Amino acid sequence: MSSKKVFPAAFGGTVKVPGDKSISQRVAMLASLAEGTSKVTGYLNGEDARSTLAAMEQMGAKAEFRDDALYITGVAGELQQPDEPLSMGNSGTGTRLLAGIVAGAGIEASMVGDDSLSSRPMGRIRHPLELMGARIGLTGKRGTLPMMICGGNLKGTGYLLPMASAQVKSCVLLAGLFAEGKTTVVEPRPTRDHTEKLFQALDIPIEINGLEISIEGYGRSGPRFKARDFVVPGDFSSAAFWIVAAACRPGAELLIDNVGLNPRRTALLDVMKRMGADIEVTVTEEKGDPYGTIKVRGAKLKGTVIDGDEIPNLIDELPIISVAGALAVGQTEIRDAAELRVKESDRIAEMVKNLRLFGVEVEEKDDGMIVTGPATLKTPNVVIDSHGDHRIAMSMAVLNSFSDGPLTIDNVGCVDTSYPEFWQHMEQLGGRVE
Ligand code: S3P
Repeated sequence: MSSKKVFPAAFGGTVKVPGDKSISQRVAMLASLAEGTSKVTGYLNGEDARSTLAAMEQMGAKAEFRDDALYITGVAGELQQPDEPLSMGNSGTGTRLLAGIVAGAGIEASMVGDDSLSSRPMGRIRHPLELMGARIGLTGKRGTLPMMICGGNLKGTGYLLPMASAQVKSCVLLAGLFAEGKTTVVEPRPTRDHTEKLFQALDIPIEINGLEISIEGYGRSGPRFKARDFVVPGDFSSAAFWIVAAACRPGAELLIDNVGLNPRRTALLDVMKRMGADIEVTVTEEKGDPYGTIKVRGAKLKGTVIDGDEIPNLIDELPIISVAGALAVGQTEIRDAAELRVKESDRIAEMVKNLRLFGVEVEEKDDGMIVTGPATLKTPNVVIDSHGDHRIAMSMAVLNSFSDGPLTIDNVGCVDTSYPEFWQHMEQLGGRVE
């Protein structure tokens, strides 16, 4: 099991984070369904994006990395039945979105994943897909992987999402691509809209009215749309670690280049500004999924409340926000975030436990936590385990940069799912990693 030893450090300088994980995986799926060859620049070379691409190849798409770009030749709507189970590794997004595609395509496939993915709830996609006419078997203990999907002849449906989840929304919309008639999903709160933006870029007929999104299905013959070129911006959720690391340190200055700035992803910036950080955003591309640069100047931060509609737009940033809370003056309260308990790990329980090990005062709530700062951090004399959760591993590495001694983090291979260059970038920005 791989581990890293990280040392206290101040971070500053310029960094360009790797491609967005959510967009890369959606591009892999849609370019694989298209007619013709798409050139994709900025595709994330991380494990989640690779397992999704490999699954699409198992179903007939062709993918080739050449001259710093990825070329995907699609199947023009007609996926092949895979001979082997689709191996989804750690990827919840890959599994849930692809389940919608497989169900719609009228093929049979099974999906398996690693220990973390095999403990995550899949009943949330089984329900809408079965309403549309697919059969889904979940053979894990509690509605979990392995999953068997038997698709075909789907009917469009109206579906009120029981939780704010872009993965479930996208699963239903992707299944809706292949359905007879119209599929409508209604979200309880706005979630990331990369699927909708890509549908629009591909001229797939989609209608958006506030929280209600509809798609007119192509029917069982499968969707017909032409390949095109895609540019995947840097992943805001990867940039978040450096944003917080710089924002919490008075005097620090950090610039992040070419990073996605979709407003459904960047609520962390509002939180950091409320807490007192100085943040300057420059949008260089406005079309489709916008991107640009973020400049952060650190300050002594103060606590804030994070809840309601803000939560889905910073859901992956909450572990690192709890780190900011530990360093800020006063209370930082996270509410309405029970979804955090079903991510790659139970992120509420993991962060509460880890912050306490460093001497931080933190109260655990069912749907969040209250962190009281500023803490004088003391690196514990124990090894921290990421429990296979990349965002826990990276959050703890950043937390320890503000502490008083070296910290060993175990089970850090998971960082490769979203940010394989993380440790190298940590050193490039002034850190020490062994
Ligand atoms: C994602 C949506 C979010 C997020 C995940 C990626 C996506 O999950 O936590 O890392 O790409 O749609 P939920 O939509 O289940 O909250």
